[in-house]
Amino acid sequence: MPFRNRYTGLIENYRDRLPVHDDTRIISLGEGNTPLIRLNNIPRLIGKDVDIYVKYEGLNPTGSFKDRGMTLAVTKAVEEGSKAIICASTGNTSASAAAYAARAGITAFVLIPEGKIAQGKLAQAMMHGSVVIQIQGNFDDGMRLVKEVAAQAPVTIVNSINPYRIQGQKTAAFEITEELGAAPDYHCLPVGNAGNITAHWMGYKEYAENGIINNRPVMVGYQAAGSAPFIKGEMVDNPDTVATAIRIGHPQSWDKAWTVQKESKGWFDKCSDDEILTTQKLLTENEGIFCEPASATSLAGLINDLKSGKIPEGKKIVCTLTGHGLKDPETAIKQSTAPVVKIKADLAEVKKAILDNMSE
Ligand code: F0G
Repeated sequence: MPFRNRYTGLIENYRDRLPVHDDTRIISLGEGNTPLIRLNNIPRLIGKDVDIYVKYEGLNPTGSFKDRGMTLAVTKAVEEGSKAIICASTGNTSASAAAYAARAGITAFVLIPEGKIAQGKLAQAMMHGSVVIQIQGNFDDGMRLVKEVAAQAPVTIVNSINPYRIQGQKTAAFEITEELGAAPDYHCLPVGNAGNITAHWMGYKEYAENGIINNRPVMVGYQAAGSAPFIKGEMVDNPDTVATAIRIGHPQSWDKAWTVQKESKGWFDKCSDDEILTTQKLLTENEGIFCEPASATSLAGLINDLKSGKIPEGKKIVCTLTGHGLKDPETAIKQSTAPVVKIKADLAEVKKAILDNMSE
């Protein structure tokens, strides 16, 4: 029988490109190595001749791209002797921090905006045994408090202002270029704090500077219309959107993201909540891929830019789907129109339900 090497996570995979030592104890849950799926049906449905791939980051161990950064941030925190980590979060960072802290045997403190995080994410933070601190405020308030408290208490911040987070997340760009044999023409991402768009650009640049690829993508960042400081050109004080993951008005990587925009000749644009939810459903119903609302922003924005012609046909495009759809079952069920047929436990009724709902 042919044996394969066991995949043991992105730090082992990219050891020589990450700041670890030979004797560093690596805290991993097997993150990374996520599928890059070519869309079969959506290009035809929108009437565009383009090659669209989605990088399904929802298949990371805790269901979002945050694990790429968290494996390195927690590995380094432990190496440096830290006994506790802390973050503010719209949900995914807290889920990831909680899981990696549990794995490492240290404590995670997570500050989340009360009533504004998806149920799946809250369940994760609670189940992994983190200390969940709900604040009467939004993510931006949480971030400010985390910075203030970390200046006074022995806790390591694991938000994306921690440079190891960005280092870990750059590996997604490595995986994409290795699979495609080159960088794509365009790379579209949802933008909140703008850490991930910064990390991807770092990864593409690193491979280009090392001669592994000789092209770099145009980076395009999309935000929810009610939470769009990069489109407004200034911070937003009361952000709001159904895509709670990116409900952020004061992005932490503001300057870095503008540099990405300039260097890659890219742009930022916004999508309405309706466009985000419609696109989430388009993916689930036509491609079998379930991502959370914030993640669908990358494809929703791309569809707008394809329709307007800003992104021309004939191009190769990657959209990052940042988190799994199961993170936010409430929003999914609320907007679903799929028939739920209720019957008695009876064969004749099952047959009737099948015949009534058989598609042509
Ligand atoms: N998509 C999802 C699903 C997210 O959870 C986030 C950020 C983003 C996109 C935006 O990424 O901030 O790097 O631009 N979530 C953070 C959190 C804020 O706390 O989980 P970004």
